[in-house]
Amino acid sequence: MERYRITAPQPSFGCQACLPLADRQTMEVHIHVIVGRLCADLNVLIDGFPMMHGMEAEEICRRAFQLPRLIREDVRFSAGGIACHTYYFRYLTADEGEHLPEGRAAEALKCSFGSPDSFFYIFREEAKRMQTGGFLWLCTESRSHVSRLRLITTRGYDLPPAPYLPLLALDLWEHAYIGRFGEDRRAYADAFLRRLDWDAVGSTIAARACGG
Ligand SMILES: [Fe+2]
Repeated sequence: MERYRITAPQPSFGCQACLPLADRQTMEVHIHVIVGRLCADLNVLIDGFPMMHGMEAEEICRRAFQLPRLIREDVRFSAGGIACHTYYFRYLTADEGEHLPEGRAAEALKCSFGSPDSFFYIFREEAKRMQTGGFLWLCTESRSHVSRLRLITTRGYDLPPAPYLPLLALDLWEHAYIGRFGEDRRAYADAFLRRLDWDAVGSTIAARACGG
């Protein structure tokens, strides 16, 4: 019988360059070394706990309290790290060139931040303001039928707390940006936003607004 194994998340286009966000070497190190190590650690940690097998890393992270205290924090770190990177890679598109929000995504950003341009500005400023070693999240808040978008920051590999539902995340650990952007996290955040599949983001927002 094949053993259950968590594998490293990566963009839909695989381990390729995603210019101007990241060159191929950065992506390879990010996916195979950084996230690969988190996966290897998590697979060892949960090997003896079949109730965790088959779960996504995010669910394992949120259910870590069910595991023995001795390994709980290590599981939260590894599973949280994999989940954070899943949201970082989730909407990156293979298509080069500029991608700007239109349609449903643009409408949602307008409702929550005034306009897509305002959102881009706030996102860039938050990325600049944050210290290294965390994630900047765009989340929906679905306590009613109207989904509102929120920016949330977390430290380490922590996930946004309820009631925030992650939509996408910017990796603000140095390994993600230092080689290409130095300390210019504004430019890094801007490059990230312009390589996202905003149609897919809009579809997820719409699905959540309908209770999906
Ligand atoms: Fe990372």
